[in-house]
Amino acid sequence: MNYVDEIKKLKKEMNAVILAHNYQRGEVQRIADFLGDSLELARKATSIDADYIVFAGVDFMAETAAILNPDKVVLIPSKTASCEMARYLTPEIILEAKRKYPDAKVVLYVNSTAACKALADITCTSANAVKVVNSLDADTILFGPDANLAHYVSERTNKKIIPLPPNGHCYVHTNLTPEVVRRDGVLMVHPECPPELQKEADVIASTGGMVKFVAKSDARRFVVATERDMVERLRSLFPDKEFVPAWENAICLGMKQITVRKIYESLRDKKYVVKVDEKIAERARMAIERMLEVS
Ligand code: 13P
Ligand code: SF4
Repeated sequence: MNYVDEIKKLKKEMNAVILAHNYQRGEVQRIADFLGDSLELARKATSIDADYIVFAGVDFMAETAAILNPDKVVLIPSKTASCEMARYLTPEIILEAKRKYPDAKVVLYVNSTAACKALADITCTSANAVKVVNSLDADTILFGPDANLAHYVSERTNKKIIPLPPNGHCYVHTNLTPEVVRRDGVLMVHPECPPELQKEADVIASTGGMVKFVAKSDARRFVVATERDMVERLRSLFPDKEFVPAWENAICLGMKQITVRKIYESLRDKKYVVKVDEKIAERARMAIERMLEVS
């Protein structure tokens, strides 16, 4: 069976669109209607004219799309496409920190569960974290779940940033240490990488920020310190430039759960529908919408 043709047919019949994150496999990127970083995808999710959104990404991204689109059906093609980092934070950790720092504001990276977002003052992504934090009228910020992104923000603001929990991280990016990362090109580093690598970067940026940086750069060869398939995205956008993954083993297993075949099955069987508890969704939506207003 030609899955790509079948997907095209089903998309038309169902009035469906496919949103995909920049870390998806090359073949998934090629069938997406829209590709982007977390912020670009959240924004896109607010302006889609479709009955079905198929989300080729991980759980928190599909949840965000569902929260922003209560009147549409959001499908995720795999039940195991999850973000490990989101698991570091629980509502209990946030509530305890709020008791300890009653005047602090809670800023949550979108890589968090809907139940956690419902307790946040505002969400952020790596593209807008500094802007979001600086927009708040509080001197102390409880920031979770990524301690490396918290460090990145703390170096760019005068506010006191308390990471929640102290050791939250992404296994893909934490392994991108100065010891394993190659240096034979302009070094682009995602802010989820450890501070030691951030220090060596030519630019620190979200995946969407990397696209914008390359578009403006005269350089020819780039080392990409983030999930390996980001190079697929960059190569397709800039065929005249060279991109190499900073480390071949930087692979997000959650993202790789999505395949072309699973997208076809997702459309065919209308599975798996992303559902978020109504009350949680209502509160989480406020935190996400505040972020979209700020950025
Ligand atoms: P971006 O928002 O930069 O695409 O990052 C998402 C993510 O999960 C990074 O690991
Ligand atoms: Fe989550 Fe890390 Fe995968 Fe990004 S790369 S989705 S932070 S596990």
